[in-house]
Amino acid sequence: MYLITCAYWLNAYVFEAPEADIWLGLGQIKSLFDSRWVVSNNQKFTKMNPNSVAEPKQILTNGERFGVVGGGNMTKALVFPLIEKGLLSPEQIVVSATTQATLASWRELGCATTTDNKLVTSTSDIVLWGVKPQMLSKAIPQSWNLTEERYSKCSSLHISVLAGITLETFKQRLQDKLEVLPRAPYKLRCIRTMPNIGASVGSGCVVFTPEPEVIDEDRQFMHDFFGPTGLYFEVPEYQMNAYSGLMGCGIGFMFPVIEGLSDGAVKMGIPRAASLKLAAQVMKGAGELLLAENRHPGELKDRVCSPGGSTICGVAALEENGVRNAFIKAVEASTKRGEELGQLK
Ligand SMILES: NC(=O)c1ccc[n+]([C@@H]2O[C@H](COP(=O)([O-])OP(=O)(O)OC[C@H]3O[C@@H](n4cnc5c(N)ncnc54)[C@H](OP(=O)(O)O)[C@@H]3O)[C@@H](O)[C@H]2O)c1
Repeated sequence: MYLITCAYWLNAYVFEAPEADIWLGLGQIKSLFDSRWVVSNNQKFTKMNPNSVAEPKQILTNGERFGVVGGGNMTKALVFPLIEKGLLSPEQIVVSATTQATLASWRELGCATTTDNKLVTSTSDIVLWGVKPQMLSKAIPQSWNLTEERYSKCSSLHISVLAGITLETFKQRLQDKLEVLPRAPYKLRCIRTMPNIGASVGSGCVVFTPEPEVIDEDRQFMHDFFGPTGLYFEVPEYQMNAYSGLMGCGIGFMFPVIEGLSDGAVKMGIPRAASLKLAAQVMKGAGELLLAENRHPGELKDRVCSPGGSTICGVAALEENGVRNAFIKAVEASTKRGEELGQLK
């Protein structure tokens, strides 16, 4: 029996596997996590000293109200970790969904919940929209008005995570249903984002496109809110569906890869539990290595392919089965579906 230790940061998975010959050194892996990556606005990857990156800090310290319309998987992935880390106070949050089953987990964290979206839109300074794209029109309250307090602030920020829905469509649909009294020049400001569910473990990606009307405070909020979720950066809106295909959907393409790697291991006699854990760790290691060293994947692949060795035989088998073409087609298909979703009324 061999002891396999897969170490991530200071936590270690330790389990026994028969006839395994894989060893990962804790020190080697930890060194990969000693640097942090951020992506600057010009989209160049920049390696930063961890100390020079803004530390996660308390969000919305002036008592602002934060609303979520559509408290499903994606908005939970973004907001729950912030509440659990104490960065966002549940007392400031109101969430809507159609069922109590979905709302229960928000309530357990201390958030107010409702099935009436008007309560969210009318009382929140910042609203995160997380319904399915085809549900947007239905989700916007037939008419929504504002509390006296919000009239006095004259503005609110609306953040969409909806695949395919353009900023123009999003804002238009919100404004069409907004009742504005003549006495207040009320303004909506909108930001379109594309996150992925890796946010729930702090390894997410978020891209965003703000409207020109967005103010410095909104950008600061984006930084504080999305910063702790992983990589985030601004992109031109016309590329948003392609980013959605790459990483909003792309994280979903990784699970069949992990499962396939595990299936191969099971076929070769490794138990399922061990093979799944190791397959996931292998994927994580590859991603972290590429980010830490900022190298082309071909270069890293060459590093592990010795002439006449076993890895190059596996790589050749992948190529015979069109692995790269499969991913190109997957990103293309998801991008096109995002474009279609944006056309739905
Ligand atoms: N999941 C991802 O990986 C991912 C990644 C990037 C972007 N997105 C975007 O995130 C959005 C949500 O996706 P999801 O995967 O989180 O879906 P989801 O889990 O189904 O969440 C959607 C939520 O919207 C609620 N809802 C439906 N109709 C509503 C209405 N009229 N008013 C208020 N709430 C309503 C649902 O409530 P009930 O549960 O009570 O029915 C549900 O909780 C989509 O627009 C998607 O494009 C998702």
